[in-house]
Amino acid sequence: MDKLQITGGNRLNGEISVSGAKNAALPILCASLLTADSIALENVPDLKDIGTTLRLLAQMGVQSERGNDGTLQLNAANVSSLEAPYELVKTMRASILVLGPLLSRFGEARVSLPGGCAIGQRPVDQHIKGLEAMGADITIEHGFVVAKAKRLKGASIRTDMVTVTGTENLMMAAVLAEGRTTLENAAREPEIIDLAELLNKMGARIQGHGGDRIVIDGVDRLHGASHRVVADRIEAGTFLCAVGATGGEIMLRQAAPATMGAIIDKLQEAGLTIECGEDWIRGSMNKRPKATGFRTREYPGFPTDMQAQVMALNTLADGTAVIVENIFENRYMHVQELGRMGAQIDIDGHTAVVTGIPQLSGATVMATDLRASASLVIAGLAAYGDTVVERIYHLDRGYERMEEKLRSVGANIQRITRKIA
Ligand code: UD1
Repeated sequence: MDKLQITGGNRLNGEISVSGAKNAALPILCASLLTADSIALENVPDLKDIGTTLRLLAQMGVQSERGNDGTLQLNAANVSSLEAPYELVKTMRASILVLGPLLSRFGEARVSLPGGCAIGQRPVDQHIKGLEAMGADITIEHGFVVAKAKRLKGASIRTDMVTVTGTENLMMAAVLAEGRTTLENAAREPEIIDLAELLNKMGARIQGHGGDRIVIDGVDRLHGASHRVVADRIEAGTFLCAVGATGGEIMLRQAAPATMGAIIDKLQEAGLTIECGEDWIRGSMNKRPKATGFRTREYPGFPTDMQAQVMALNTLADGTAVIVENIFENRYMHVQELGRMGAQIDIDGHTAVVTGIPQLSGATVMATDLRASASLVIAGLAAYGDTVVERIYHLDRGYERMEEKLRSVGANIQRITRKIA
């Protein structure tokens, strides 16, 4: 298993290109199942989760061809299997995103239920409830969601909570349904807008995406389209936290600052100087961070996917920050590892109280999930001495060449690949 070895203390200075957003690319790849024509994509990040999705689509019969500059061509003209097996779904919950497209184009799907997940229970009941409202007959058999519907029918659906992949799955199901579907209490994330824009280019009739009420008028068929995946706001935010912790100045290119309001506000509160253009962000830091508390919320609130990274920044801050995690019940697994580096954090239920200290000390720590891993890297970059982050396969799920990007701005960070004898 690969590890990252970091010698902390270097300030970060230079330019980094932000990759396409993982959470936009995953549903977009699944949307290729909705048409027999080709979908041409740009800015698809090279990540483990993207590889898993391509394997999942390939075993259904979807052909894909990857260029070496983030381009990807997909064609689902010859789909031969309507099943998502457990072996692939268990490693990536987002596999559930094939359910809506398969059911609406082929009238049938068998998707393994995602297993337990490190950051909480994360059920898919709302996906199922929405599809049932559209007339699908759904049973759970041998660990699979088995869904059937001759043709889905438009329906008025209000999910019990705001769910990102739930909204995406139901939107993809509704585009080929008969009649109008209204999704109330819909998620408003930029990645949902990106998916809706691709679907509309394919001939779908979606309105209201970006708001909490999405209206979809079903069409009989969709056609091919090309699309560039939106920039990854979480990757960009992670690099800004890194420079906040180490000091220095970084310029992020190909970014989407318009999608990052809550993140940028919070980092400015922490003392970073941030300037933005349409597709760039310059972040600099020349002092110790200020403690800044926050509560995670659905977009446009502060994202749960940035909680761990901004917590890492707070471990070094002047003052005490109160952080409340509202989206997932078990998303503080980085706390114990940050504690091994000297961080002072108390947890009480969903609340974390972080008392900043002037310096962390390098240690061997273990990554437990994707964003937790990023927080440990940030801590290691700022810490005194050497840090080894183990189990970085979590990081590889969602960050493209993270260590190379950080090295290019002056970080002392190496990947150690375990050689198998
Ligand atoms: C997506 C993101 C993930 C992010 C999360 C919250 C992708 C691929 N992943 O995950 O990075 O952390 O949004 O912003 O885009 N819930 C239910 N029943 C359901 C669906 C959700 O109870 O059927 C609950 C979940 O357990 C959670 C909350 O709703 O507590 C929000 O989850 P959701 O928005 O669905 O997260 P994901 O779409 O899985």
